[in-house]
Amino acid sequence: MKEKIAIKKVSRDTFHPKSKFYITTPIYYVNDVPHIGHAYTTIVADVLARWHRLSGEDVFFLTGTDDHGKKVATAAKEAGKTPQAFADSVVKRYHEAWKKLDISNDDFIRTTEKRHERVVIEIIRLMNKAGDIYKGEYEGWYCVPDETFLTETQLVKGKCPECGRDVEKVKEESYFFRLSKYQKPLLELYRKNPDFISPKNRRQEIINRVQTGLKDLSITRETVKWGIPFPGDNKHVLWVWIDALSNYLSAIEYPEPKYKKLWPADIHLMAKEILWFHAVIWPAILMSCRLPLPKKVFAHGWLTIEGEKMSKSKGNVVDPLKLTEKYSVDSVRYFLVREIPLGDDGDFSEKALISRINGELVSDLGNLASRVLTLAERCKSYQGNDELSRNLDFKKIENHVENMELHHAINSIFDFIHSVNKYINEKEPWKLEGKQLEQVVYNLLESLRVIGILISPFMPSTAEKLNRQLGVKAGSFKDLKFGKFSGKPRKGEHLFKRVA
Ligand code: MSP
Repeated sequence: MKEKIAIKKVSRDTFHPKSKFYITTPIYYVNDVPHIGHAYTTIVADVLARWHRLSGEDVFFLTGTDDHGKKVATAAKEAGKTPQAFADSVVKRYHEAWKKLDISNDDFIRTTEKRHERVVIEIIRLMNKAGDIYKGEYEGWYCVPDETFLTETQLVKGKCPECGRDVEKVKEESYFFRLSKYQKPLLELYRKNPDFISPKNRRQEIINRVQTGLKDLSITRETVKWGIPFPGDNKHVLWVWIDALSNYLSAIEYPEPKYKKLWPADIHLMAKEILWFHAVIWPAILMSCRLPLPKKVFAHGWLTIEGEKMSKSKGNVVDPLKLTEKYSVDSVRYFLVREIPLGDDGDFSEKALISRINGELVSDLGNLASRVLTLAERCKSYQGNDELSRNLDFKKIENHVENMELHHAINSIFDFIHSVNKYINEKEPWKLEGKQLEQVVYNLLESLRVIGILISPFMPSTAEKLNRQLGVKAGSFKDLKFGKFSGKPRKGEHLFKRVA
């Protein structure tokens, strides 16, 4: 207890000079199929992963599923299946959804995999070696939907303070983690690394809670059977959260070379309801194991549907697969990232989606591509200059991404798109001939090529479509310099369809 734990300032370049980028989503419970809330986090992570790949970084983008725990076991029982068979069937739906949504994850971890279990056991061994695990008795409450232990004083009118649902009384033998020992080191971590918990408004909430004191944490369940057996005492299974958080290490093969290359994670992305687990419990586990800490945990807000909380009983749960049968994948990706400032709660409404499709996507971007490619049909060759490059402020866009302001990043890309539309209107190329026409068309094609690169993390298949019509290869950020256009344009179908 008296032992002093040294906390180093976590610098962006602690181990790797800006060359790698490891980003994670939460691993989702397989008690049910994915909905638009899961899709939102995963799309945002995908945009960031794709962006960093274009910067030339070595990206590792991880997602997966949380297969264990009482919540999944209960859902399996209700479905008349074994937990494993049930998990297997739901996981398929996750794979299907992420494929459809063009999610470019590098791996997909499941907590029922052997490679995961092996690392979890190692983590418990390290925590035990640090003297941080002891046996006791847990008496209190448990919220199954949130898989969370709660004290009497945390309950609100006898219900879970987080989800408002019923809780169950638990009194059982349990192993505990000395979380209390890490109160000071955690506060020191937050103080020395002001961006560790982002966004800022959530940071203070966590600090306030940690300052009131941390109780040791029950980390095993005796009455739950669906989980990883606790090493050395198989009548207990590991509490699902300790199991789940370990995925960030198991997927990168701790302690093998892959781990050495990728750890610490650059961003753990999630929604606000599970920030506590990522900003408090996870770093405490890592401190106990004497392992480096992630650089950032970022909690975004909650998505409501047409202004209402999403729930099965309300019948308003949005299935991302059904949505993409009606609207293009890229328009859904674009909408979610453009509509909601990352970190804020936001609303999904079809009306707002349609308005952005018809406005920004069809009119501003799609029509621009269509106009330019029509004009290009009138030219045999082109020669231009880089006069439009001055309308592009890439640094500004990059800063927005760095600051997790993805909606602003899109806005700045659209500022450039608007400026190119303005250029056409001013130059009136339909009135031009010969060299003058060739110059304007060249500048426009070159701008479209650059736009194709910039939109590709947000709308990968639209970028591909555009590149195909321009007759250019997919570029990266090193190709943003103007004056490189050497494609063979051929007009194809409009990039987006207007929605009636
Ligand atoms: N299994 C845990 C996470 C373990 S991570 C080590 C879990 N799973 S979950 O299936 O409940 O997923 C929660 C996450 O799904 C949220 O943190 C968020 O990323 C996403 N979302 C679920 N519903 C959402 C909304 N309504 N709005 C925004 N994000 C949503 O918790």
